[in-house]
Amino acid sequence: MTGDIEDFDVSSDWHVADPYDFLRRLRHERPVFRSEHLGAYVLTRYPDVRAAYGDPRRFSSEGSLTISRSLTRETREKLGEHGSFLSSFVANVDPPDHTRLRRSVSKAFTPRAVAAMEQEFRRLNEDLLDRLEPRKSADFVGEIGHEPSIKLTARFIGVPESDEAFVQAHVKDWFQLFLSPQPPRRQLELADSFLTYLDYVDRLVASRAKDPRDDFTSLMTSLIGAELTHREVVELISTILLGGNDTVPNQLGNTVLRLLREGAWPVPPDLVANAAEECMRIDGASLGSFRYAVTDILLHGVTIPAGALVLLSTDSAAHDESVFPEPERFLIDRPNAAEHLVFGYGIHFCVGAALGRLQLRTALDVLGRRLPDLRLVPGAPVAHRKSIVGRGLTSLAVEW
Ligand code: HEM
Repeated sequence: MTGDIEDFDVSSDWHVADPYDFLRRLRHERPVFRSEHLGAYVLTRYPDVRAAYGDPRRFSSEGSLTISRSLTRETREKLGEHGSFLSSFVANVDPPDHTRLRRSVSKAFTPRAVAAMEQEFRRLNEDLLDRLEPRKSADFVGEIGHEPSIKLTARFIGVPESDEAFVQAHVKDWFQLFLSPQPPRRQLELADSFLTYLDYVDRLVASRAKDPRDDFTSLMTSLIGAELTHREVVELISTILLGGNDTVPNQLGNTVLRLLREGAWPVPPDLVANAAEECMRIDGASLGSFRYAVTDILLHGVTIPAGALVLLSTDSAAHDESVFPEPERFLIDRPNAAEHLVFGYGIHFCVGAALGRLQLRTALDVLGRRLPDLRLVPGAPVAHRKSIVGRGLTSLAVEW
């Protein structure tokens, strides 16, 4: 099916659902691939992807997330100083700023703090199933996968329950505005929504400055002046809300689809941890990260010029047969499944990885116990979202 395809094409179904023939050809024939469609060089071999993540001096993160090139002048004017939003987000900067920001944000993700969230997350899943179980069917993506993660993240940040829906709607708009090209009129609507959202986060920070509580916003707010600026704190809160609202539910949807298709449901408790890793490997919710080449970089006979955008394809790395034998096979007990790079690698390694893993395992445990005969609704279509950096489903009809 992908025989004639010569470039990435994120707008087509094969690319988001099953790009693995294409990626294998790139690994074998063109390990440093210049994609006209992405406007970037693409690294596809596991050792190259890992080495690039591990070499921030040559592969810079500065501005790598700011995919706002498609914004019109009118939208930029409306956004004013926020037009380059994310410019001080931890994943979007290099050392020494990165070192300082990372130190601050890590304070909230200690192993103890993460472990303490398990009970809450379990309860959120149980509550949801108490409501849904009698119905005997649902859209996994819209009705099961997202709610517990969104609520957990909101509580972690310190968003009151009454504001959760407001925050969720605005975070979605924000994501659309900055991470996927939009027509001009839609850009202006999304920009309005985004400014309203920023104003909300501003007020949340101000209220925690006056009246600190036991939450992420209070902890980060207490560092303003000493380690962080006000803007950095607002960006951290906003992006963590986004991270928690989107990546884990996407990964859970991909995971459940894979397990059901493979006839591996429910996962025996002693295999849950490895099954989650194998699902992250074979159907990762993150497809890779962008970097900028700092100098000319010669690799496999190709010179990546200084200033060029480079995509480190963790999706391809996870299917690299030199590291994962028979990569297209799902092996629930694959010994090195956890060597996937879906959380990145090196100094930017996902700060929420332990929390993401905890949520996946807990959800598989609770869902497997409560809905042991979960199955796909026969004939229901399975559609993927069209995105350069993330893989997720738009809906997944299930019954039990
Ligand atoms: C399955 C779920 C998740 C996936 C697949 C994922 C993926 C990633 C990846 C690939 C990176 C590296 C980006 C880069 O190097 O450019 C990253 C960084 C990051 N992630 Fe996650 N993530 C997940 C869950 C989370 C959660 C739950 C949180 C927070 C609550 C989070 C917060 C962050 C932050 C703050 C960074 C930036 C770290 C830095 O630059 O030092 N992530 N994530």
